[in-house]
Amino acid sequence: MNILIIDDEKPQRDSLAGFLKKRGHATASAASGSAGIAHVEKHQVDVVLTDFRMPDQSGLDVLTAIKALNPTIEVVLMTAYGAVDIAVDAMKASAFDYLIKPIDLDELELVLGKIQERHYLISENMLLRDQLAERCKLPNLIYQSRAMGEVASTVARIAPTRATVLLCGESGTGKEVLAKAIHYASPRKDRPMVTVNCAALSSTLLESELFGHEKGSFTGAERQRIARFEQAHQGTLFLDEVGDIPLATQTKLLRMLQERTIERVGGSEPIEIDVRLIAATNRPLEQMIKDGAFREDFFFRLNVVSITIPPLRDRREDIPLLMDHFLNRFSEENIRGKMEFSKEAQDLLMKYNYPGNIRELENVVEQSVVLARGTMITTADLPSAVRQLPAEGKPEWPTFSGSFVNQVAAFEQDLIQKALDKTNGVQRRAAVLLGMTERHLRYKLQKYGMKN
Ligand SMILES: Nc1ncnc2c1ncn2[C@@H]1O[C@H](COP(=O)(O)OP(=O)(O)OP(=O)(O)O)[C@@H](O)[C@H]1O
Ligand SMILES: [Mg+2]
Repeated sequence: MNILIIDDEKPQRDSLAGFLKKRGHATASAASGSAGIAHVEKHQVDVVLTDFRMPDQSGLDVLTAIKALNPTIEVVLMTAYGAVDIAVDAMKASAFDYLIKPIDLDELELVLGKIQERHYLISENMLLRDQLAERCKLPNLIYQSRAMGEVASTVARIAPTRATVLLCGESGTGKEVLAKAIHYASPRKDRPMVTVNCAALSSTLLESELFGHEKGSFTGAERQRIARFEQAHQGTLFLDEVGDIPLATQTKLLRMLQERTIERVGGSEPIEIDVRLIAATNRPLEQMIKDGAFREDFFFRLNVVSITIPPLRDRREDIPLLMDHFLNRFSEENIRGKMEFSKEAQDLLMKYNYPGNIRELENVVEQSVVLARGTMITTADLPSAVRQLPAEGKPEWPTFSGSFVNQVAAFEQDLIQKALDKTNGVQRRAAVLLGMTERHLRYKLQKYGMKN
């Protein structure tokens, strides 16, 4: 480390410098507070050891001045007077530690060791954060379609604001990727982005995740839990699968969003919070409102800015880029060297419908890379779903919009209608075509209110 020694007594400076050099540190010395501060202004310094009592300035002033110049420099005060109040003042002014003169060299080494450790931790932390930010930055959103270009430009416009964002899109379209892009492009990027997956939790657990709880507030609440909202303070809270939040919890969330405070389950004190909310869903919220499964007022609170990510099959221009991206990633991970798709395999991948969107494309590429025998991925290496393209005109099931029951019902009606069209409305023949009894068919027609 680069260590600066500030002391008005030369023998003291020299003996410390000698010791520190032997330990592999680079040292510099200054005979007064002002000389020390001048040195810090011009040179790289990691640690300052400063005497407390000096003719021109006190060690405390030196400490304050250095911290103002560069808060990452650690300052250790040395004092001949073991007075507790000096120590307290020093620590309040954010000294790293203090040492009593005459300096015990073992103790000095211990303190320097702690500083070194803290530096490692801080730099590691910054590195991790940088890497994460790097991975989630907007440029890593891979696209070339116009539709996604519009999405990206909306993101760039709204990221700096505090506006609540609602991300809609089928499963695997990249809602979480986009949420991260918004957070890391916002002024809140150095604060945490906390994710809560609302679908994965029961309503009791979801509420204690969101709002926290006091110890013993319900059976199983053995410890106090800090709310996700509190963890995300000054950062971003990402509510994933917001369409799965039970109505009662929606009511509580709505009140919280209006009042900008939360109350822990079993607690009495409201806690003020400052979070930016991003919500995501693959469910048709408007339809759910009509069905009484989603609160309209809650929807309006979330839907301040809404961004809909189009399914991959509606932006096929993005497929080649994504294909390349995943191919590079997985062939690297598999240490297979540079791999490529055969022309026929590429054609099939371009035509496939991707009900699971980008996540499915990612899986398809990974699977092909693993299965391919050589460096060329052929059609035979592709998953069977991709190889068996649906015949022209076949509906693109499933679409993953709407509830399971409604989708199945829609599919049944579609199927029945097609059979009836084909048989000119003759129910007996349509039933044969459908492989069901005539009675069953009539029951279905009645159930769906289909005229025939
Ligand atoms: N534009 C993109 N560029 C590169 N990779 C992407 C892009 N969009 C999505 N992905 C990748 O696709 C996968 C699915 O993305 P993500 O988890 O964000 O989807 P989602 O919409 O949240 O899905 P679900 O509704 O199932 O939760 C991830 O592995 C993600 O890295
Ligand atoms: Mg998701």
